[in-house]
Amino acid sequence: MARPHIEPFCDRDTHFKDMTLPGFARGMGYKMLSFDVDTGACSMTVQLDGGYRQEPGFPWSELEMIVIEGELKVGDRTCRKGHYFFVPAGYCMPEISTDQGCLVLMMYNTGEPSHEPANEHHPLAQVGLYHDVDSYMDIPWAPGNVAKPSVASGCLIKLLNYNPISHAMTFLYCMTPAFYQDNISYHDCAEESYHLWGTSWMMQFGEIPTGGYFWRPAYINHGAFASEYGCIALGRTDSKLFNHFHYNPWTNPTENAHRSAARLYKRDPLLYKWAISYDHNHPHGPEDFEDTMQRRGDEQGHDTKHKSDGKRHDHWHGHHHHHDDSPHKHD
Ligand SMILES: [Fe+2]
Repeated sequence: MARPHIEPFCDRDTHFKDMTLPGFARGMGYKMLSFDVDTGACSMTVQLDGGYRQEPGFPWSELEMIVIEGELKVGDRTCRKGHYFFVPAGYCMPEISTDQGCLVLMMYNTGEPSHEPANEHHPLAQVGLYHDVDSYMDIPWAPGNVAKPSVASGCLIKLLNYNPISHAMTFLYCMTPAFYQDNISYHDCAEESYHLWGTSWMMQFGEIPTGGYFWRPAYINHGAFASEYGCIALGRTDSKLFNHFHYNPWTNPTENAHRSAARLYKRDPLLYKWAISYDHNHPHGPEDFEDTMQRRGDEQGHDTKHKSDGKRHDHWHGHHHHHDDSPHKHD
């Protein structure tokens, strides 16, 4: 899912365009939120006009949908706001319609938006992966500590989909009124969010209102966070979510990625030894900026700068520990 960093963005600032791709019924407007130019995968806010009717059929791409406002009829069922669908590629959906119109978030994960009229599943569809749920009414809020170290208490989640191979997740999250978290976060995965309702705030990107959206590639600093009145959002990650927390607002994505590798090196040294292919196997591993950055109180003659150029290194202590005639010398 190679999409550019889109943040800050709010879909209320743009207009709907008519969906004119073959297969789709008329009366479908979309706002493109993010788009992968390699695969056509995308996330869109979609307005279905009153009286919209789409014949049965399947998408060629994996599709996730959640109803934002209004009522969506799927076959005989009336699905209201908060209803979430995971539709595998090739899975045949019944007729989709809406009497009064509705707003839906649609995420085509593996290819461009498509609708193939059909009355049965594609023979290669993984039909067992299909599921849908009224996420507002039929799932309780759980603590946000699915990933540890965890977000601060007051950020709750409802897990909607989990990929056991990649650990990618789709979830609702809410921030309770007066929620705040004072640290900075980045991840080894891309992160996506659409604000279904309410406003949250981030130090780097400001306020995300209702309709606010981001697609954020890995290693980009975000946080501190706060929400005055609370918010509810749909979130996704494209692989395993790990919260790398810190308090240095100046680090860039390259430094953050190096720190992630350094933490892997410290925690799983054997895995790191086999996995790393970073020019050559540097004997000291990649740099963890928290180990080497300047801190207040470090001015006592200790040289905290890491001076390795990849081939040799200096000691981190700039002052001299040995007599000149000592046999222990570093030349
Ligand atoms: Fe995050």
